[in-house]
Amino acid sequence: MPAAISIRKLAKSFAPGKQVFSGIDIDVARGSLVALIGANGAGKSTLLRCIPRLIEPSSGDIDVLGQSVTTSARGLRQIRSRIGFVFQKHNLVGRLSALTNVVHGAQGRGYGAAAWSQSLAPRAIRSQALECLDRVGLLAIAGQRADSLSGGQSQRVAIARALMQQPDIVLADEPAASLDPQAGDEVMQLFASLMRKEKKTVVFTSHNLTHALQFADRVIAIGAGRILLDAPADRLKEAELRGLYV
Ligand SMILES: Nc1ncnc2c1ncn2[C@@H]1O[C@H](COP(=O)(O)OP(=O)(O)OP(=O)(O)O)[C@@H](O)[C@H]1O
Ligand SMILES: [Mg+2]
Repeated sequence: MPAAISIRKLAKSFAPGKQVFSGIDIDVARGSLVALIGANGAGKSTLLRCIPRLIEPSSGDIDVLGQSVTTSARGLRQIRSRIGFVFQKHNLVGRLSALTNVVHGAQGRGYGAAAWSQSLAPRAIRSQALECLDRVGLLAIAGQRADSLSGGQSQRVAIARALMQQPDIVLADEPAASLDPQAGDEVMQLFASLMRKEKKTVVFTSHNLTHALQFADRVIAIGAGRILLDAPADRLKEAELRGLYV
C-alpha cells in the first residue's frame, strides 16, 4: 500500500537565498502518528502547510493518498477534503455555539451552506456533530458559545470539528501548545487515542518531547534546513532529542 503522505526532495524558501529547508524526504505510513519536532523557526509549520499546498513548495514532490498535490484546482480540493487540520490556536468562531463550530467541519464534505449553522444543517449532520462532541467528552456544552469555553475545551471542539470532516489524514500544528500542562496532556491523550481508534494518519508538531515520544509512532526532527533524525519513538530517549536543540 502506498504511503499516506510521500514527500520527495522538498525545498522551500520564502526569499532568494533564504532556504527554510531542502532535500526533505518523508514517507508517512497509513494509520501512523508522526511527531515533527525542531527548534523555533526550523520549518515545522512550513513543512506541515506544504503538504496540502497551503504554502507553495519551491521544489520537490508531494503525494497524498497516492495523488500528487500538483494537480488541477479540483484535484487539490479533493485532496484537501481528505485532510483535517488542528492548529495551536483553535480558530473557532467565538460567537457561535460549540455545536455549530463542529458542524462547520462538514463544509469540506460538500454540504456548503447547509453546514454553516446547526439550525440549517440536515438532521444527520447535526447528529454526527453531536456524536463528535460526545467523542471529545463535550456533549454537555454543545449549545455554549465557543468564546465562553476554556482553552482545553476549545481545543477539544477543534478536534471534534476535524473529526466531523471525516478526513483520512490529520495535520496538527502544536495542538497542545497554548494549554496549561495538565490540559495539554489531556488534550494530547484524547487526540492521540481518537486518532488511533479511527485509524487516521497523523502528523503533529510539538515542542513537548514527552508528548512526541509518548504519542507518536515515529519522531522526525528538523533543523539546519534538513532532517536531523527520523526514528521509531520507542527507540528514542528524551535526552537524545534534547541534544538536537543545542
Ligand atoms: N510567510 C512567510 N514569509 C516569510 N518567511 C516565513 C513565512 N513563514 C515562515 N517563514 C520563515 O520560515 C522559517 C520557518 O518558520 P516556521 O514557522 O515553519 O518554523 P517552526 O518550526 O514552525 O517554528 P515554531 O516552533 O516557532 O512554530 C522561519 O525563519 C520563518 O521566519
Ligand atoms: Mg510552527
